[in-house]
Amino acid sequence: MSLKIAVLLGTKRTGRLSEHAAKFVAEVGTSFKDVEITFVDPKSFDFPDEGEEVKDPKYTAIVDESDAFFIVTPEYNHGYPSTLKRMLDSEYNNYNKKPVAIAGVSDGPWGGVRAIEQVATVVKTLGLVVLKKDLHFPDVDKLFNDRGELLDNEFRERTKKIYKELIWMAKTLKWGRENLELEK
Ligand SMILES: Cc1cc2nc3c(=O)[nH]c(=O)nc-3n(C[C@H](O)[C@H](O)[C@H](O)COP(=O)(O)O)c2cc1C
Repeated sequence: MSLKIAVLLGTKRTGRLSEHAAKFVAEVGTSFKDVEITFVDPKSFDFPDEGEEVKDPKYTAIVDESDAFFIVTPEYNHGYPSTLKRMLDSEYNNYNKKPVAIAGVSDGPWGGVRAIEQVATVVKTLGLVVLKKDLHFPDVDKLFNDRGELLDNEFRERTKKIYKELIWMAKTLKWGRENLELEK
């Protein structure tokens, strides 16, 4: 079964270091057989701020076609960026009964743990199924060099482990969506 996984970067901040972490997560995803990764950079999308039209059709198509999501978000003042909320809120039904993994990023020791907790609450409302385990990128300013290369290889194994669970969930839920009717 081939799967499509969208890696969502949570911030547009100039100089964002989470971009290194998100690109690393995307790269690890490409090492899995039969998995196609789409990297979603919020800078490449246009979500209107007001009015009835809240979607960017490009993002709608990605969410519709994806079987799973991997959110990589920095922590801003113990929360997650409004950019990520705006992007997530632009869709609804297309997320339903699909799994999501969450990675937090910070330049401190906690690896965005408080942002992750908040994202987990919100994505449940969107019908996404959150993995039990999260991924943390603490001290991100020391974890990657200026070219965005990872300096601690342990993170590769940790990231692969999360992907293995995400892929299992994605296959299981995809089969369920395609084969099982929900009793009314
Ligand atoms: C507005 C703002 C608020 C922040 N608040 C926190 C915080 O609550 N906890 C934390 O660990 N780091 C915080 N940071 C630092 C980030 O962890 C740091 O910028 C890191 O590089 C990840 O974010 P980035 O992708 O924007 O670079 C904050 C950074 C910004 C710009």
